[in-house]
Amino acid sequence: MQVQQNYPLQKYNTFGVQAYAKYFGAFNTIEDLLLLLKEYSKESTLILGGGSNILFTKNYDGLILKNEMKSIQTVHEDEDHIYVRAGAGENWHHFVMHCINNNFAGVENLSLIPGNIGASPMQNIGAYGVEIKDVFHSLEAFHLKEKKIVNFTLNDCEFGYRNSVFKKKDKDQFAILNVTYRLNKKPQYNISYGAIKEELEKMEAGELSIQAISQAVINIRTSKLPDPNIIGNAGSFFKNPEVPGHEFHELKRIHPNIVGYNLKDGGVKLAAAWLIEQCGWKGFRRGDAGCHEKQALVLVNYGNASGKQIYDLGKEIKQSVKEKFAVELENEVNII
Ligand code: FAD
Ligand code: EPU
Repeated sequence: MQVQQNYPLQKYNTFGVQAYAKYFGAFNTIEDLLLLLKEYSKESTLILGGGSNILFTKNYDGLILKNEMKSIQTVHEDEDHIYVRAGAGENWHHFVMHCINNNFAGVENLSLIPGNIGASPMQNIGAYGVEIKDVFHSLEAFHLKEKKIVNFTLNDCEFGYRNSVFKKKDKDQFAILNVTYRLNKKPQYNISYGAIKEELEKMEAGELSIQAISQAVINIRTSKLPDPNIIGNAGSFFKNPEVPGHEFHELKRIHPNIVGYNLKDGGVKLAAAWLIEQCGWKGFRRGDAGCHEKQALVLVNYGNASGKQIYDLGKEIKQSVKEKFAVELENEVNII
């Protein structure tokens, strides 16, 4: 639980950019967290998970605390569901594999997403037609100022697309300690995302199973997304923008190939990658900062780019998308 000063963060963010924390420590019990918060009560605090959705554009002038609370336990069972609680510091994919190996269904489409349990509700992580909110039961979080544990139910979390109460009114207020997921005993397969069906056919997987879906998702992701161990990145840098239906029709009239998905409220979610690619950014590189050659929504660090260089590239991309399509992109990555 030793706190280090002026601590390098390069290994603690998947962009691999260099920045320093004034203070850096880790905790794996609430008691340790409490002690650290008391000792550094004057410092602003940032809770860090796997660092896979964060961009340090400058040094952090405060205390960074890495949550290392690990555990996976089945806490309850009923006729249809298994309730599994995982510590915030547990690796997300490790948890998914635990579920797959035990035939607990619901998270197979979310295989291989980097990062830890604690950030999963924060971001309402999602992929291939499934989001955390679909399997979320509750979580426990520690109020950093009031020094008390608060329980959050599904409604309390106010989940939205890559959004939750922890990015809105409760931003920077809580350390998420553990999350309880409600998994299904009888799988409800979700293969509506076209690429999964194609991959399953290619795999000649035979009968549908959560194991086969998980493997299909892993195959698709590895073929499309850069591995942060090789090229620094934080997944999609921007969210896919949502526009009202009438705006989409107008865009479609001018750009017949524009890619969009209908939403239940009549709006349309645009593929930001398509907008960015049309602006000519795909494969662009300036110094070591770039826009990935296979996925235009992913900004990358080829080696020694600074957080500021990546951030500035993001700003230029936003500006050109706005000029060409009159559509505003919003960052998905948390900028520090
Ligand atoms: P961090 O980056 O450490 O933190 C993210 C934010 O959450 C920060 O603001 C941090 O302060 C806060 N936070 C973290 N832990 C806690 C805690 N315990 N309590 C309070 N606040 C906390 N995301 C998707 O949704 N879908 C994808 O398909 C996807 N694909 C990706 C692919 C790649 C190659 C990469 C690199 C990223 C991808 N991401 C994806 C983004 C990322 O994996 C998720 O957002 C993930 O949940 C981040 O987890 P983390 O532990 O690394 O969070
Ligand atoms: N496309 C392009 N150019 C590209 C890439 C994609 O035009 O370079 C178009 C294609 O038409 C494609 C469409 O964009 O059909 C959508 O692409 P993809 O299926 O790769 O998904 P995405 O919208 O880029 C989203 C999530 C991902 C998630 C995948 C799969 C967001 C911001 N991103 O990406 O999540 O894994 O769908 O569900 O919603 C993340 O959040 O970090 C992340 C990686």
